[in-house]
Amino acid sequence: MVDDTQVATVTRPQIQIQNAVKSFNGRVVVDIDNLTLGDHPIEGLIGPNGAGKTTLMRMIMHSTPLDSGTITLSNANGDRDVVISDLPTHWMAPHGVVKSNQVIMDFDKLTILDSMLLAVAKHRYEQPHRILAEKSVYDANVARIHEYMEFFDLGDPYRFAGSAGEKKLLDIIRCLLLDPKFLLLDEPTAGLPEDLTEKVMETIRDLAAAGTSVVVVEHDLNVIWNLSDDVHFMAEGNVVMHGSPQEIRENKTVIEKYLGEGHV
Ligand SMILES: Nc1ncnc2c1ncn2[C@@H]1O[C@H](COP(=O)(O)OP(=O)(O)O)[C@@H](O)[C@H]1O
Ligand SMILES: [Mg+2]
Repeated sequence: MVDDTQVATVTRPQIQIQNAVKSFNGRVVVDIDNLTLGDHPIEGLIGPNGAGKTTLMRMIMHSTPLDSGTITLSNANGDRDVVISDLPTHWMAPHGVVKSNQVIMDFDKLTILDSMLLAVAKHRYEQPHRILAEKSVYDANVARIHEYMEFFDLGDPYRFAGSAGEKKLLDIIRCLLLDPKFLLLDEPTAGLPEDLTEKVMETIRDLAAAGTSVVVVEHDLNVIWNLSDDVHFMAEGNVVMHGSPQEIRENKTVIEKYLGEGHV
């Protein structure tokens, strides 16, 4: 937990997106003139399927290259701004920008413990046969890993992750282990049972209270309304409005285009 004096002195990292365009096969899927993420500790990003939410997050990580535009990380505490759209993906984590994945693809051949160690290993160890033998990586991180394992009730660290939900949870823990300054979560609670969803939300709140800026894409709107200080509504590749959860959930356009009367 974070004490209040610490919260008061923190300034928040922000991501500025300017004139950012991405097309696939000649079709524009993201086209954003000017958007600032990180004005609030936790921001929700919602919108219909295909609105471009995942693509936007991938553009920020530079795992999808931009057709044009600039994305800048403004650091808290007087550190220099970094034009992250000029950098390759593997430089994002060292700058504190970390993203979880909507669809999880790995973990089948690594134990739970090894996949967490892989997340925290420095570059020079980044070959699984070295990491797993690297005692310093293990020693430096094992206490935190066990803390997360216990909190999320993951059981034996030497087994393989089983369900899709468990893999999702591992992906989130791997992100947390990187001490993100700016954390992007793409549907973090999809496939998680209710008790784990609660725990993930609690962890995100703690992280944000300690100074990390968090942006969450989530289809479960209860998670968005519960968690977010501010909500961006995205449609057809652009953020068309933002406001408090209350404002967004009462907005007529949002209701008609996306939520439907039953969802509000
Ligand atoms: N790699 C890709 N190749 C072609 N089209 C893509 C690719 N990734 C995303 N798209 C298209 O871009 C649009 C936005 O997708 P996405 O960013 O996944 O939306 P969201 O996450 O909001 O549901 C969709 O129409 C999708 O089909
Ligand atoms: Mg998506």
